[in-house]
Amino acid sequence: MDVYEPREDSFLLAEQVKRYSKGRVLDMGTGSGILASVASETADEVVACDIDDGAIALAKKNLKDKGVSVIKSDLFSGIEGLFDVIIFNPPYLPDPEDDRARHTALDGGKEGWELIGRFLSSAGRFLKSDGMILLLFSTFSDKDKVEELIAKNGFLFEQVSEMDLFSEILYVYKLRKKIHVD
Ligand SMILES: C[S@@+](CC[C@H](N)C(=O)[O-])C[C@H]1O[C@@H](n2cnc3c(N)ncnc32)[C@H](O)[C@@H]1O
Repeated sequence: MDVYEPREDSFLLAEQVKRYSKGRVLDMGTGSGILASVASETADEVVACDIDDGAIALAKKNLKDKGVSVIKSDLFSGIEGLFDVIIFNPPYLPDPEDDRARHTALDGGKEGWELIGRFLSSAGRFLKSDGMILLLFSTFSDKDKVEELIAKNGFLFEQVSEMDLFSEILYVYKLRKKIHVD
């Protein structure tokens, strides 16, 4: 499948990336590299990763003058260190057949929220105590379930933007660790 071409979800999240990026930033599932590129305008260091070889090749090309490290990684498997900001525009569509090999950029698992759940279960170990996660998801990925996963993994959330696309509503949440140890 082709690398994800930036669209409404990318642009909605990009507004918040522009607003909050500072320090060390991780762009999870970078695709074309659009969000890493925006983050690089204000952050000290940006790491961009993706599981897909085509995305890695395109992101490397698009980010070559931005000083961004581009790494192939299944979620956090290849990631090291702590981040001030972690960005994720995940694949979030439900795929009842759960055939993610065909739709890596779109399908989030059988119900749509499974990859978000995997992401949230590890993200805390890579986030500074006062760091934040900027997470995009949609009504297609079950808002109540995503909120349950956020709480279960020890985060508090605040909705920072929303976009009604008629067939679905997109949300951007800002997550912080429940317990700050400074
Ligand atoms: C919806 S696209 C977002 C692309 C880009 N960040 C944007 O906003 O336009 C989701 C991206 O996540 C990547 N991805 C899917 N599963 C992943 C995983 N397990 N680990 C890392 N990246 C993954 C896909 O290859 C795809 O590039």
